[in-house]
Amino acid sequence: MLKQAKIITVTSVKGGTGKTTTVLNLAGILETRKMKTLIIDLDLYSGGIAVSLNIEVEHDIFELMDDLNRNRFHNLEDYIISYDEYIDVIPAPKDPRLAGKISNKYLQVVYAKAKLKYDCILIDTNHNLNAINLLNLDYSDQILYVITNDPIDLKNMRTMTSIYQDMDKKNYKIILNESTHFKKDYFTPYDIKNMIKDNIDYTIPSSFYIKNIDKYVLDGKILTLDSHIRKKYKKAINHYEKIVQAILKEEK
Ligand SMILES: Nc1ncnc2c1ncn2[C@@H]1O[C@H](COP(=O)(O)OP(=O)(O)O)[C@@H](O)[C@H]1O
Ligand SMILES: [Mg+2]
Repeated sequence: MLKQAKIITVTSVKGGTGKTTTVLNLAGILETRKMKTLIIDLDLYSGGIAVSLNIEVEHDIFELMDDLNRNRFHNLEDYIISYDEYIDVIPAPKDPRLAGKISNKYLQVVYAKAKLKYDCILIDTNHNLNAINLLNLDYSDQILYVITNDPIDLKNMRTMTSIYQDMDKKNYKIILNESTHFKKDYFTPYDIKNMIKDNIDYTIPSSFYIKNIDKYVLDGKILTLDSHIRKKYKKAINHYEKIVQAILKEEK
């Protein structure tokens, strides 16, 4: 049977909420389940996937889209960089000046080709609702919003949930990320639900705050694949397991 991977987008309504870390951690969990994942970095101006994984950007999404546009494209494999046996990457443009020149005309073509080769496609994004990000949301089977305990973030999330409610769409989930800092949060989960007028589907607890996270980034390591982290933060990692379980189960 042909594979038909799901397109899972990780996004937010504010910068720095933990999207890139979430994408990598989910890819790690998928790897532990022997699932092949393609990560596409659509944070075009300041993509963090390739640098977080220490992979050399031999090809990038600009080159891929440009070749499609100019009829020079042959195989998707020619543009893919592999991190390990299970995780492949299409990085953001090596030269960020080219980001604005990416046409979104062939985004769907890329997704259609990738869907046949992977078990899951994870899209990392930024929080700007520009044309390519909007199109990507349209093509996504599931959208994961990573929010933090921050009034501006929560108010903007409310705007977003009301847009979804207006469109009668519910192919998104909300992840409250409490792991980026280690201090007591101001709003309780009850407050947050009231502010965003929606449910919090998953929480990454503050117990997953990793003080020396930068060391892992420098070493190009994925937290959820690291044996020390897996042991020490077993409970917190279960929250990522739950997200992956839901992703794999969710009907299109
Ligand atoms: N579990 C964690 N523990 C400690 N710091 C974290 C954790 N997750 C994310 N961070 C830090 O939070 C910051 C934002 O994370 P990142 O994934 O880059 O967010 P985004 O992609 O939304 O901009 C980074 O500096 C990252 O190292
Ligand atoms: Mg990021």
